[in-house]
Amino acid sequence: MNLKQMVGEKAAEYIKEGMVVGLGTGSTAYYMVEALGRRVNEGLNIIGVTTSTRTKEQAEGLGIPLKSVDEVDVIDITIDGADEISRDFQGIKGGGGALLFEKIVADYSKKVIWIVDESKMVDELGAFPLPIEVMPYGSLQLFKIFEAKGYQPEFRLDEAGEKYVTDGGHLLIDLNMKEIKEPHALATWLDGLTGVVEHGLFLDRVNTVIVGYENGPVVKE
Ligand code: 5RP
Repeated sequence: MNLKQMVGEKAAEYIKEGMVVGLGTGSTAYYMVEALGRRVNEGLNIIGVTTSTRTKEQAEGLGIPLKSVDEVDVIDITIDGADEISRDFQGIKGGGGALLFEKIVADYSKKVIWIVDESKMVDELGAFPLPIEVMPYGSLQLFKIFEAKGYQPEFRLDEAGEKYVTDGGHLLIDLNMKEIKEPHALATWLDGLTGVVEHGLFLDRVNTVIVGYENGPVVKE
């Protein structure tokens, strides 16, 4: 079993009868959704709240009942992947392009679990490019601001080589910062830029991290 599958299946064990569950996006969350789909087909009653079109299509295919984030009072647990997690549990997400909906769903969740293979655990954030979701209008101005800061921005492209458009209809600019010494200060600065819809710094947002190692999953709280 690969490490992503291991942690995906482990995380699905946290889901109990009657829960409203936030369903993350990405190749690790995929396995969690598959495991939940099997349990639903065995009789588990849950409601899923998806974080992307991709996950919605997968969950629908498995017969998991779904509601939108606006149709539920609260989400009991959200399980999602991550691109990098520092020692103090701060994260970068959005490599899969779904950071805006992922952050919204996480914010309305009582508990957030991240599932990652060991390669995602880092001493310091920033080796993974930080995704910034931006309004198309004015995006080149933002690009120039990031460039002037030395953040080596790149517009995310799709398979056809066109600018990638998110589920929310926005563009993504990836910042190649190499290291992020002060994530909270950076997040505050990004939050203040007009035209930035959201960014991939997920700070102080996770309760539990399940890390996949060769000899088994480790739950960190
Ligand atoms: C999508 C995400 C993913 O959770 C993140 O990119 C991790 O993906 P994977 O499990 O495929 O490595 O944030 O927007």
